[in-house]
Amino acid sequence: MLASKYRFLLGGVLLSVLLGSNAVFAASGNVTVGKVKSSACKRCHGALGMSKNPKYPNLAGQQELYLIKALKDYKNGKRNDKAMRSVVSGMSSSTIKDLAAYYSSIKIKLKK
Ligand code: HEC
Repeated sequence: MLASKYRFLLGGVLLSVLLGSNAVFAASGNVTVGKVKSSACKRCHGALGMSKNPKYPNLAGQQELYLIKALKDYKNGKRNDKAMRSVVSGMSSSTIKDLAAYYSSIKIKLKK
C-alpha cells in the first residue's frame, strides 16, 4: 500500500520533469519561421513591426508572452477586433509562437 503510494509519487515527479522540459521547449517559437510568416502583418503593422499608421500598434520589441496572449485572445474572442480576428482565425499555436518570437526578437533603439 505504502510502496505503491511512493511509486505513484515518483511517477508524478518524473512526469512533471518530462512535461516541464517539454513545456520549455514548446514555449519558444522559431524566429526565422516567424519572420517569413510576418509578411502577412506588414501592411498594417509595418516593416519590422513598426507601424507608420497610428491605427496600428507597433509590435517590434514587444514581450513575447504578451504577443502570444494577444494573438490567442483575438483567436478565442477575448479580444475583439475585426482585422485581427480574420488574421488569427485558423492560425496554429505554433505559428502564433513563431510570430511572437520574431517580433519580440526585433531590437528597437530608444531615444528621447
Ligand atoms: C488589416 C490590418 C492588420 C493586419 C494584416 C494585422 N493586424 Fe494585428 N492589429 C491590427 C489592429 C487594427 C490592431 C489593434 C486592434 C485592437 O484594438 O485590439 C492589431 C493588434 C495586434 C496585436 C496586439 C498588439 C497589442 O499591443 O496589444 C498583435 C500582437 C497583432 N496585431 C499581431 C499581428 C500579426 C502577428 C499579424 C500578422 C500575422 C497581424 N497582426 C496582422 C491590424 C492588423
